[in-house]
Amino acid sequence: MNGKFVTVEGCDGVGKSTQVRLLKERLEREGIDAVFTREPGGTPIAEKIRGIILDSDNSEMDGLTELFLYEASRRQHTKEIIEPALSKGKLVICDRYIDSTLAYQGYGRGLNVDMIRKLNEWAMGDVKIDLTLFLNVSSEEGFSRKGGASREDRLEKEKSEFYERIYDGFLRIAEKEKRFKKIDASGDKFSTHEKLYAYLKDNGYLNL
Ligand code: TMP
Repeated sequence: MNGKFVTVEGCDGVGKSTQVRLLKERLEREGIDAVFTREPGGTPIAEKIRGIILDSDNSEMDGLTELFLYEASRRQHTKEIIEPALSKGKLVICDRYIDSTLAYQGYGRGLNVDMIRKLNEWAMGDVKIDLTLFLNVSSEEGFSRKGGASREDRLEKEKSEFYERIYDGFLRIAEKEKRFKKIDASGDKFSTHEKLYAYLKDNGYLNL
């Protein structure tokens, strides 16, 4: 697999989806070929699983069930989209991946982090992440940016303490993993976009 795999991570409310969209539009304008995708989801089967996970009617869902659904979505997405694209030498940019599971289900919900690491490995197979861009905004600011708990989906109803544990979890992963690059995302969206773009360009990700 001679492509490059970049994941984008961050807590809810940090503007991650906006940043992924701005990046996609910029690369399209500049004629740079890249596959943009997301988790949970990214393929028809995985998007159906996403629907089950985020459905607010499923408030009875057990934590392990939720974990397995994220991993099931990941496995399908990895085999169907990520691995083939990397094999063709493409740049793949994925909105959330394995670190979200460690941060949310592991540090956030308190499921066993070592078990999650194993499941992540199984779901990934031979795929390796080259770079993880972590949009760094404190959990309080992220939480207030998204206006506190909203009623839109089950996960977004969670309390601010949950987001604090998730943020701390991401910071712990960042300490361990060399592939993690923290990007200060506390400013306006255009300045954050410039930082992301510059990092990718300066580190050779945009000239595959
Ligand atoms: P999104 O808002 O970035 O599309 O992600 C949907 C929600 O799913 C978000 O609250 C984070 C959560 N999530 C997990 O809890 N574990 C995971 O493994 C992934 C990929 C997402």
